[in-house]
Amino acid sequence: MEERCVNPVRKVGPAGGKKSREPDASKIADEIDWNEAWKMQRSQKAVIKRDVNFWDNKARNFFKKPWDSNYPDDFLKIMEPKRYWTVLDMACGSGALAIPLAKYVRRITAVDFSPGMLEVLEEQCKTKEINNIAVIKASWEDDWKSRGIGSYDAVVASRCLVVDDLEKAITKLHNAARECVYISTIVGDGPHDRGMYEAVGRRLTPGPDYIYTYNLLYQMGIYAHLSFIKDYRQESFHDLDAAFQYYDKFMGELTNSEKAKLRCYLEDQLVPRNGKWVFKCKRARRWAVMWWEKE
Ligand SMILES: C[S@@+](CC[C@H](N)C(=O)[O-])C[C@H]1O[C@@H](n2cnc3c(N)ncnc32)[C@H](O)[C@@H]1O
Repeated sequence: MEERCVNPVRKVGPAGGKKSREPDASKIADEIDWNEAWKMQRSQKAVIKRDVNFWDNKARNFFKKPWDSNYPDDFLKIMEPKRYWTVLDMACGSGALAIPLAKYVRRITAVDFSPGMLEVLEEQCKTKEINNIAVIKASWEDDWKSRGIGSYDAVVASRCLVVDDLEKAITKLHNAARECVYISTIVGDGPHDRGMYEAVGRRLTPGPDYIYTYNLLYQMGIYAHLSFIKDYRQESFHDLDAAFQYYDKFMGELTNSEKAKLRCYLEDQLVPRNGKWVFKCKRARRWAVMWWEKE
């Protein structure tokens, strides 16, 4: 059986081979290369490839989620946006943050590699008569300068650090910011329901959580503030079938036998309340928000 490595990579150093010596607790964090640790954890993720097509297909669903979330409001409270700010919202999605942020700042440049996401964002701007958001189609991996991504007072990357090289991505965000950078990422299982994955017989590997990011920031000499958002969302569906359709799509390409198990799980977990179907047990989800000022 293939052995799984769960420990972060140690940097090769002078003390590397000395097994007899007790580890010096104060040095352990320094000996770990957190970007390599991130890469290793990401490579063990058992999820479908999330390319442009994946996000394009998700765009409409993403905007019309079956829940209301306190996440955008809580994120904006942490940001304390300034009226004079120009903001870069990297991997903005359909605008969960850009749309509510628009009324507090001067201008937003919203960037994503998914045309579907940007289309939904632009539709919302039209409907809500928002005219200080400009969009750019670009990816984390692109040369940002040649894509027209310049520098901004504040830079945001919310729930979107889906990159292989985290250090490179953070460096790009940092270089694009004049004043401050805000990033957020998963804590533990993130938005995923471990019970659901286990019920269908799949292994949930959500990938590296915030502690990798936080430690990497430290290693990069960035002493970030850290705050947690507790997401109180409560999914609700018209009926069991709507719930099934949603999670079938969310989990991606289930076999017939997995679909049957998902249906059983939802029948067991969802209960009718006030004319809707909701989960009988509430799960706490947390997001970690890390931010820093440029020195
Ligand atoms: C989970 S959504 C987050 C959207 C938004 N920032 C939010 O907090 O709701 C992740 C977003 O990252 C985008 N994305 C994924 N990989 C990307 C890449 N390599 N370059 C640019 N955007 C990417 C997706 O298109 C999607 O809109």
